[in-house]
Amino acid sequence: MDIAVLGTALSTHDRRRLATAGFTEVAPDRAVVRLYVSPKPPSRPPRAPWIWISAGELDPDDAVTAVLAGAYDALPITSELATILARRIAELGVQVAPGVPPPGFVARSAAARRALGELDRSAHTSMAVLLTGETGTGKDLAAHYLHERSGRHGAFVPINCAAIPNELIEGELFGYVRGAFSGAVADYDGLIVAAAGGTVFLDEVDDTPKTLQVKLLRVLEDHVTARLGESEWRQTDFRIVAATNRDLDELVQRDEFGADLYQRLAIVRIEVPPLRDRREDLPELVEYLIARFYREDPAAMHRVTRVTATCLASLARYPWPGNVRELRNVIFQSLVKKLAGDELLLSDLPERIVRGAPEHASALFDRTVLGQMIDGGRLNLRAVRDELERAALELALAKSGGSPARAARLLGEVGRGTASDPGGTVRAMIRRHKLG
Ligand SMILES: Nc1ncnc2c1ncn2[C@@H]1O[C@H](COP(=O)(O)OP(=O)(O)OP(=O)(O)O)[C@@H](O)[C@H]1O
Ligand SMILES: [Mg+2]
Repeated sequence: MDIAVLGTALSTHDRRRLATAGFTEVAPDRAVVRLYVSPKPPSRPPRAPWIWISAGELDPDDAVTAVLAGAYDALPITSELATILARRIAELGVQVAPGVPPPGFVARSAAARRALGELDRSAHTSMAVLLTGETGTGKDLAAHYLHERSGRHGAFVPINCAAIPNELIEGELFGYVRGAFSGAVADYDGLIVAAAGGTVFLDEVDDTPKTLQVKLLRVLEDHVTARLGESEWRQTDFRIVAATNRDLDELVQRDEFGADLYQRLAIVRIEVPPLRDRREDLPELVEYLIARFYREDPAAMHRVTRVTATCLASLARYPWPGNVRELRNVIFQSLVKKLAGDELLLSDLPERIVRGAPEHASALFDRTVLGQMIDGGRLNLRAVRDELERAALELALAKSGGSPARAARLLGEVGRGTASDPGGTVRAMIRRHKLG
């Protein structure tokens, strides 16, 4: 397999051993796996799988940073490095191939790639998967993806447990024979049988009525169904995927959802991350949604082909409580209203997005936002530092009952003053920020 070694601290001996183990060193853009040998984890992690090798002793905090940024592993340089690396690279080889997201499934960020990896790993099994995540995060999309990747030839049958009236849901799912109830004018096999050889997708599963939950449990345990009005049980091969945007643990505790059914549904549990935890995906999502808008509305008068940096920065700072669905609505709404010009501007966005995006210091902890602001020439580091200092100072003073010495302790080294006047620095800061 092709690997790239970035940094120089890997010994010639280790490099030779990796070559003997069958790995070829190539330029970074051609590598399937990248090895970073550096004192700190790379600040711009790549899309290709990567492993971080600490140039010095391995700091556990750095290991966590690297893994959260998407590293497969973080390793110290030891005499066994080449052996461990060979193992890790081989493992990655198994996982790499299916990790490329299909068109229309944006997953560039570490959080989205982690979820995609979990979907890939469970797709080929017949285990029940429970997809959790806030509204609009892409659970429907994930369920379709699981089915497509499963290699199952049967149908994908979505069942929205919240949308079907309670009195009809059993008949819809399990089918009925003619005359089973007053509206049963013909035999019907039901949705579960329709998914034979395929996938049953129980969407909004938290809304399943209690009585149905009990029946579903039997169906999931034995993969059998009986039509209403008939006592014969039929075996059906189907794979179950369920989704919820509520906390099922809590519902189980409140006795609103059966613990047994929950265990059955959540054999594999995959969390689809909220958009605010995957802001690196924003530029590509926006690009994809613009293209999708014109695909869905080919008669649109003219085309937006670019998004300005200010517009993108504003989108990146908004908290997106409605996740990708809200982003889609915002982009579509902006494009519908746009009458001229090929660039999406800040002024094209709905006002709530522009307003809800103050340039707070906290937003700047996001590397994407920071990068975009630097690119757009809009970063004033001193102003940001001042804003952060003022906010921390106000909070520390409030928590310390207004005592500069105690606030200094709460603020750490930065505001400690001198031994004889421990609140001196904080008092100076109070004057500077005109808080006194
Ligand atoms: N990773 C992604 N790439 C591209 N589009 C996405 C992605 N995730 C979600 N979307 C789009 O966002 C919209 C909402 O996604 P979806 O319906 O799957 O959300 P959901 O999690 O099922 O929401 P709910 O909990 O409200 O049912 C859809 O238009 C979908 O195409
Ligand atoms: Mg959904």
